[in-house]
Amino acid sequence: MRVDCVVNGEPRRADDVWPGESLLHLLRERLGLPGAKNACEQGECGSCTVYLDGEPVCACLVPAGQARDREVVTVEGLAAGPGELHPVQRAFVAAGAVQCGFCTPGLVVAVHDLLARTPAPADEEIREALAGNLCRCTGYEKILAAVRLAAGREESQP
Ligand code: FES
Ligand code: FES
Repeated sequence: MRVDCVVNGEPRRADDVWPGESLLHLLRERLGLPGAKNACEQGECGSCTVYLDGEPVCACLVPAGQARDREVVTVEGLAAGPGELHPVQRAFVAAGAVQCGFCTPGLVVAVHDLLARTPAPADEEIREALAGNLCRCTGYEKILAAVRLAAGREESQP
């Protein structure tokens, strides 16, 4: 089947999409957007988080056909322009919250969504909002620090 959708503000088309294909596969393998990561393919880890019509979803669980005529925003679409970082991405770097980086794109989208809804979240709200995003490397403290930084609650460490 053919899937026409808008991805990061641009109309995109994919042909020969098979019925069981995921949105994650469509984005990574057909549209050349490898930002959303494929870690579990079971909706468990959040590394594939993207926006679908403004709602964060696990792209591995969404059939590609459901993106037809809808708007997808991936981590690649968050920054203001090519070669730039979104403030949430800058905060992750500044807080040292990126190790292997596999969880990072999904976390960045989840944090972007959290701060859009709750600009100054308490730690408990941050933990709750990120409960679906697993990280095997950081122990989460630096991720929390990154969110506080992005929310303007903490100064960047030298
Ligand atoms: S790859 Fe989608 S939730 Fe893990
Ligand atoms: S930085 Fe490696 S899984 Fe989070």
